[in-house]
Amino acid sequence: MSERFHIFDTTLRDGEQSPGCSMTTPEKLRVARHLVEMGADVIEAGFPIASEGDFQAVRAVCREFPGAHLAALARAVPIDIERAAASLDGHPRPRIHCFIATSEIHLRYKFKKSQQQILEEAVAGVELARSFVDDVEFSAEDATRTEMDYLCRVCEAVVDAGAGVVNIPDTVGYMTPEDYAAKIARIVEAVGDRAEVSVHTHDDLGLATANAIAALHAGARQVECALNGIGERAGNCSLEEVVAITMVRPDRVPFRTGIDATRLYAASRALAECITFGPQPNKAIVGSNAFAHEAGIHQDGYLKHRTTYEIMTPESVGVPSSQLILGKHSGRHALAQRVEELGFGLLDRASLGTVYEAFTRMADTRKGLTDADITALLERLGLERVAVAATAA
Ligand code: KIV
Ligand code: ZN
Repeated sequence: MSERFHIFDTTLRDGEQSPGCSMTTPEKLRVARHLVEMGADVIEAGFPIASEGDFQAVRAVCREFPGAHLAALARAVPIDIERAAASLDGHPRPRIHCFIATSEIHLRYKFKKSQQQILEEAVAGVELARSFVDDVEFSAEDATRTEMDYLCRVCEAVVDAGAGVVNIPDTVGYMTPEDYAAKIARIVEAVGDRAEVSVHTHDDLGLATANAIAALHAGARQVECALNGIGERAGNCSLEEVVAITMVRPDRVPFRTGIDATRLYAASRALAECITFGPQPNKAIVGSNAFAHEAGIHQDGYLKHRTTYEIMTPESVGVPSSQLILGKHSGRHALAQRVEELGFGLLDRASLGTVYEAFTRMADTRKGLTDADITALLERLGLERVAVAATAA
């Protein structure tokens, strides 16, 4: 039986604070609606101290989604915590997410403070946050480069002070899965069942999702992630990847979310329309090539049985359909199917050979051929439509 873990979405906070991703209030409301409808457990709506606009955006998300579990970020300083509390005021399910950096690097260069001072500030921050709301999450920024005994002491102290969730961010994306899992296991042991252990991974080494999955095996029960994997620098752990992994590999990853995966693609598209870029074409799950096949061997296999080259159906993650892209690597099988779909009928072997030869000559000069290119080619070769065209793949 798989175990349920929580999805904490930070698209509207960590995601939003990366270059090209800032969102207006209506844009945040649009993305938040997708997150609410897909079933994200907690939605981090913003960092209210950052600007008046972000404060107002968090307020608007609270007004629009009274049933959602909403978080606002704050440094462990009174001005931030009071602002986060004010932004969430009146909302039925508020969480203050309070953080302070704990690594020696940050203590020495950023704060010029001792471990004891930071520990005290962390505890004071959590206590102040708890004076406003019952649900407080604490994050030890740069936790993964923090000396382990000290990190355990900080986690225990903030739990004593009232934090219900302790988050162990790999702020700079430095972890490998084994390394991260070992650290998470230590924290789970230290806090026991007094708090939920959360993970927050960054993708600087391309390991954000792998690290989050390793952390689940080590006992974490909240994963922080963002749509399309947006976030600081190389991004955050991608929400759609985590969800898809639990669906496709329950044998190896026996954990489940409350996310309706069929809503992933629409949410990804909506986010792309709100920020300045979409996922790269080869992005897992939601990229435009994620269910597209161009190579002849792959197209032939796919047409014989789609499981030859697809480990999930596009529909299972809300992508309308797979696509067969016709290009210089494509084969006769896919070309014949497209010719038929375009209404030119089933070609006999000789005609297909002629069309295929002309097609490969044309494909050699282009990066993929559109239906219009193929129709023009067929007409040039003297073929005529024999039926009303079916919908092309
Ligand atoms: O990466 C990080 O450390 C963060 C914290 C504020 C949670 O985003
Ligand atoms: Zn982060």
